[in-house]
Amino acid sequence: MRSGGWITEFQQTRAFEQAIAAYTGAKHCVVTNNGTISLTLAALALDVGAGDEVIVPNYTMIATPNSVHMIGAKPVFVDVEPETLCMEIEAARAAITPRTKALMLVAANGRYPKAGVAAFAALCAERGVALIEDSAQALGSFYRDGRHIGRAGRVGSFSFSMPKVISTGQGGALITDDDALAARLRKLKDFGRTGGGNDIHDSIGWNFKFTDLQAVVGLEQMKKLPWRVARKKQIWRAYSEGLKGVPGIRLFDHDLERTSPWFIDALCERRDALAAHLKDNGIGARVMYPPINQQEAYNLPGNFPVSARVGQEGLWLPSASQLRDEQIEAICGHIRAFYS
Ligand SMILES: Cc1ncc(COP(=O)(O)O)c(C=O)c1O
Repeated sequence: MRSGGWITEFQQTRAFEQAIAAYTGAKHCVVTNNGTISLTLAALALDVGAGDEVIVPNYTMIATPNSVHMIGAKPVFVDVEPETLCMEIEAARAAITPRTKALMLVAANGRYPKAGVAAFAALCAERGVALIEDSAQALGSFYRDGRHIGRAGRVGSFSFSMPKVISTGQGGALITDDDALAARLRKLKDFGRTGGGNDIHDSIGWNFKFTDLQAVVGLEQMKKLPWRVARKKQIWRAYSEGLKGVPGIRLFDHDLERTSPWFIDALCERRDALAAHLKDNGIGARVMYPPINQQEAYNLPGNFPVSARVGQEGLWLPSASQLRDEQIEAICGHIRAFYS
């Protein structure tokens, strides 16, 4: 507030963008007001418009398809890999049509697809489809080739909503190495101005801007990121140890060397009864995303066995970085008791 400038986007916002660019290794970072709008902005900048199709996974936070639905494009749902819950590449290949403009690859819970991101990049290049990475859940996670998740496509998107690894209350960011695309993103999110702070508009744009008020929070959060990433991995290990050999529950595997679990996700027999048992013992758990095609908002037919199974058996266990080891052990104890 005392920095002498604007409290919308000014020096603190630029510093926050630079911190994210430095952490992810991207050439450019452009922040936005949230991680849904950042996807919409990415799609707009890549010329996705009304009537175009965008391939999205049937297991994701609903913001992924909604971000393009908002601009009249049609999200086309495909199933996900059973091991990672990231998009299944053969299903994606089969879903591409002449109207397909983009593919949104979601790093589910910080994981990358087993098929490898290079296979998705090659598929998109071959079919003339823009690869957009929805990395909202993947800050602190890297691909096998060492690049940060979000850097393999034309543009990668992040969210800083409350439960994310770092938060600015609300907020989003796009990363890209493409100078022209970065300039286009900046212009589109700032009313289509020809230059900073003027009122000359040679194109249509919107207001998807961030604020310095959030950026100062984000800069402090970035200092905590390395600790949180390490702690999330420890938490996963503690659950994995505490639930070893317990019939009825299976954690999703994680490449802990490179990726950081955002939430602890598991498939559980009698999921709802387990969640109720945990609740009775004062432990919050949350059912994982239902298959999007079955959500009333979309209500589409289709055979998506993996996302359908997650909708019935998927449960997120308590995952906050502040959880203490003894709390995790107590939670595991209640789960063991339930399944015994
Ligand atoms: C995969 C995914 N995409 C997009 C979003 C939307 O981000 P936001 O809540 O910042 O709009 C989220 C989280 O909420 C998410 O998990």
